[in-house]
Parts: sequence; structure tokens; C-alpha cells
Amino acid sequence: MQKQVKKAVIPAAGFGTRMLPFTKAVPKELIPLVDKPVIQYVVEEAVSAGIEDILIIISSGKEAIIRHFNPAKELEERLQSSGKYELLSELQTLNKLARIHYVYQQELNGLGDAVRAAETFVGDEPFALLLGDTVMDSYTERSVVGQLIDASNAAGGSSVVAVSVVPPEKISSYGIIGGEKISPSLTRVTTMVEKPAPQDAPGNLAVAARYVFTPGIFAALAETGRGVGGEVQLTDAMIKLLNNEPLFGCEISGKRFDLGSKAGFIAANLEFAMRDKKLADALRGKLDELLTEKND
Ligand code: G1P
Repeated sequence: MQKQVKKAVIPAAGFGTRMLPFTKAVPKELIPLVDKPVIQYVVEEAVSAGIEDILIIISSGKEAIIRHFNPAKELEERLQSSGKYELLSELQTLNKLARIHYVYQQELNGLGDAVRAAETFVGDEPFALLLGDTVMDSYTERSVVGQLIDASNAAGGSSVVAVSVVPPEKISSYGIIGGEKISPSLTRVTTMVEKPAPQDAPGNLAVAARYVFTPGIFAALAETGRGVGGEVQLTDAMIKLLNNEPLFGCEISGKRFDLGSKAGFIAANLEFAMRDKKLADALRGKLDELLTEKND
């Protein structure tokens, strides 16, 4: 019988160099999107798709991520005694979101190397992989990783990667897939290139921070050496996976917010803030003022 996806892995070990100096002491995964850190949205997305166990891959110095999900007894007592029950209940829900486990990536040798650290946790099961610095806002009831799990189930339990169409100027920022379209939203992948120049790209479908893998990815990772940027690239392991198993690209119904870059962080915060009526009212005047100044 086909095994269900019950585990998720969230790599959160990287330096976050695009957001320095902020990320010197604070993990980029704890950057706020209005009032919640990015990684909390990522955990909530996994939980809403039926995931029960989550492994967060961290590195030395990023223990604040563990503190974020652990109970904070004294703080809870203070909220209780001061009657701040709504906040208290929000924090208590956060502690119980899922069983969250942690593992350290010993040396920062790239995304592929980080995923290797999940092998013992994953064992012989399919799993979801969600990059910890990217929020995916679904256009449907089903979360983006949920859409991928459904696509994987429909494809007999195969590995599936989320993709979205990107304009030529963004091609060199992503892994790009190429292959044969088998339905409006599904491509059977035959080739992949990590961060190609636009003229070398096999298409315009970019890998979008969410994946479902069979455990076969670990055998592929074991054979993968350093690639672009001197790092062990997950993309290279996925190319090796193609020798043994099918891999599909699923065009997801949703929007990505990359919080790991300055412009992405500010734009995402504005967009999420404008969805909150109170905040939108408070901000509208200020934004008008700033936009008018620019036009003067
Ligand atoms: C990683 C992957 C890349 C993918 C991107 C967004 O790159 O290597 O293939 O397109 O995430 O999901 P990074 O943004 O970590 O450099």
C-alpha cells in the first residue's frame, strides 16, 4: 500500500547573508511577517496538510528557533496573571502545533547537504520538504504543500516539486525544470538546472521552495558532490533521482513570498499588513504620503 506523507523537513541552517547584519544574531527564519516569524507560517502550512512530525534542520547559533516553538512557562504564567488570555491561548496553541524535532547541520555545505541530515528522521517514508525562509500563500483551501501531497498521491507516490512560471530576469535565481507537460499543471521532469543564465534554462518553470520526496532522494544525495557555488545542491541530487524514479513538477495554485531578501521581506510585510483591516487603515495614509513624496 502507498505510504502517506506524515513527516516534514524544514531546512533552516543557512547564514541568511542576504539579510545581514540583522541575521548575525537572529535566524532569518525568525524574520517577522507582520507579527509571526516566517518559520511559524511554514510549520502551520505543513500541519494544515496533515503532517504530524516535523524536523527542523538548524545550525549552531540558531537555537532561537527552538525557543520559539518550546513552551515558555514564566511568560505564560505572566499572561495568565495579567488576564491576557487571548495571547496566552495563541502561545499555547503554538507549543502544540506538531511534534517538532531538531537536528544540526554540522557544516554549512548547501541545501543538499542539509537535507542529508534528515535521513534518520525520515527513514523509509515519503516526506515533504519546505524551505524555512519562504511563505506560500495558497489560492485554494488546500495549502501549497497539501497540493503537492495530493499530486504525489495521484502520481502513485512519486516525488513532486512545486514550480511556478518566472519571468526571464528571475530565471538565474532558481532551480529550473524542463520536461514534458502531461496535464495543465503537471510536468514530467527530464532535466533540471540550478540557477542557469536565461539562455541556458530548459524552460521558465522555477522550483518553488516546496517538495515531496520518496526516500530515494537520500541515495541520490549520497552520490552528489559539490556543484554551483561550491555547495551540495539539492537540484543535482534530483537530477540523479531521475535515473531511478520519475519526478514531477506541479504548478501550484498559490503565491510565494521569499522573506530572505530585503525587497521580498518588505513587500511581503506590506501585502500581509494590508489584509488586516486595522493595520490597513493605519497604514493607508502613510503609504499615500510616501508615494506622493516620490512623485514630487
Ligand atoms: C533553493 C534551491 C532552488 C530553488 C529555490 C527556491 O535556492 O536551490 O533550486 O529554486 O531554493 O525554492 P536558494 O533560494 O536557497 O538559493
